[in-house]
Amino acid sequence: MFFDRPESGELAVLVHLQLAQTAVTDDLREFEELVLSAGGDPVDFLTGHRPTPHPKYYIGTGKLEELKHLIRFHNAELVIFNHELSASQERNLEKELKCRVLDRTGLILDIFAQRARTHEGKLQVELAQLQHLSTRLIRGWTHLERQKGGIGMRGPGETQLETDRRLIRGRIKAINKRLEKVRKQREQGRRARNRAEIPTVSLVGYTNAGKSTLFNAVTHAEVFAQDQLFATLDPTMRRIKLPDVGPAILADTVGFISSLPHRLVEAFRATLEEASNADVLLHVIDAAADERLRNIEQVNIVLDEIHASEIPQLLVYNKIDLLESVSARVDRNDEGRPYAVWLSAQSGEGLDLLHATIGELLAENIFHGTLTLSAKMGGLRSKLFKSDAVVNEWYRDDGSSDLEIRLPEDDLNKILANEGVELTGLLAQSEDTSAPRMAV
Ligand code: GTP
Repeated sequence: MFFDRPESGELAVLVHLQLAQTAVTDDLREFEELVLSAGGDPVDFLTGHRPTPHPKYYIGTGKLEELKHLIRFHNAELVIFNHELSASQERNLEKELKCRVLDRTGLILDIFAQRARTHEGKLQVELAQLQHLSTRLIRGWTHLERQKGGIGMRGPGETQLETDRRLIRGRIKAINKRLEKVRKQREQGRRARNRAEIPTVSLVGYTNAGKSTLFNAVTHAEVFAQDQLFATLDPTMRRIKLPDVGPAILADTVGFISSLPHRLVEAFRATLEEASNADVLLHVIDAAADERLRNIEQVNIVLDEIHASEIPQLLVYNKIDLLESVSARVDRNDEGRPYAVWLSAQSGEGLDLLHATIGELLAENIFHGTLTLSAKMGGLRSKLFKSDAVVNEWYRDDGSSDLEIRLPEDDLNKILANEGVELTGLLAQSEDTSAPRMAV
């Protein structure tokens, strides 16, 4: 560890100030929940009003005394601010309070660090943490100007601070290099999937909504039975099978958090890109949470930031097992299009409805029908076979054949345009399809 700083404690005093410029009443409940999900144990809340933050401590000196008292009273070892603190404010506070101080970015990074599941996610969190730390390097340094000994550890006259800045810079560079490599692989994977026309379904949702639970439930559910041919792409991606669509990729993403600091959105851009390239977003919502409407809104704000707000969304109201008299169901709009599914990822109730509904949404742009191709249309026939569109084929006595095909409409139109034929001229007549045919 680079730092020589107070050990973190679990008992935490939370601080939130209502500033004059913030119009809405800030959500203290959300803050408390974030602290809980980081593993903290909130013992007290210090709140107050100020027109602007105090330059030295963020809170005023009167509040600072109050905070000292609360820390002593509860024997707390950690103070968490629901705000962004400058490096010097954080340092001044730690010096005065003699305990560890965490700001909102630090808190969120901590949550992400605990939850990162992939190699890439872990690298992203570490990078964001190092970047956050590098602006705060002086904190905890009682020996700042001391010359550091040790062969090869320093240049001439280099201070401890310079050495560690150099170490951090080196680590940041190394992580960036590895991330670049992972990103390239991810990009290649995505291109291969696009080429193979495999649709991607991405899970998004507020932290704690149950995305990972749903991801696991789906990938283990019989109805979604993935074909085993496909190697695991990534712990957050799985191949699934959908009705009328065939194979699809289900991708999990990091949990969204309200007012996600912009720097963090940047740090997680590559993971979030998986969502911005999806064909359908499953927006998972904790249906039992009081603040679910606010959470939906917050997720939509982040989706807007990553340019994913135009992607069709299916709302997945999860945790219905916690609600009285709500059973699994699909909600549809006036045109009959599904927009929400109610289910429980934990009990598995409603997974079958989810399966059918995603299939329905994705199949909207899929052509599934039978074409009659004359014997002369060998070129078109082979193109349809090449694009893996043929489900079944029957020969007629006159040498023509009926092809049952399934493929994205766009692709079919492209193939037909290349061959210079119109779809209407090829659609098999219903009376003809009952003619004697020979299955291949
Ligand atoms: P992040 O990783 O923060 O994005 O969270 P997440 O959205 O992946 O949530 P996760 O799957 O970790 O679930 C959060 C909590 O909700 C866990 O304690 C789950 O056990 C619980 N949970 C998930 N689905 C259900 C459900 O259908 N019913 C109930 N009762 N609890 C659930």
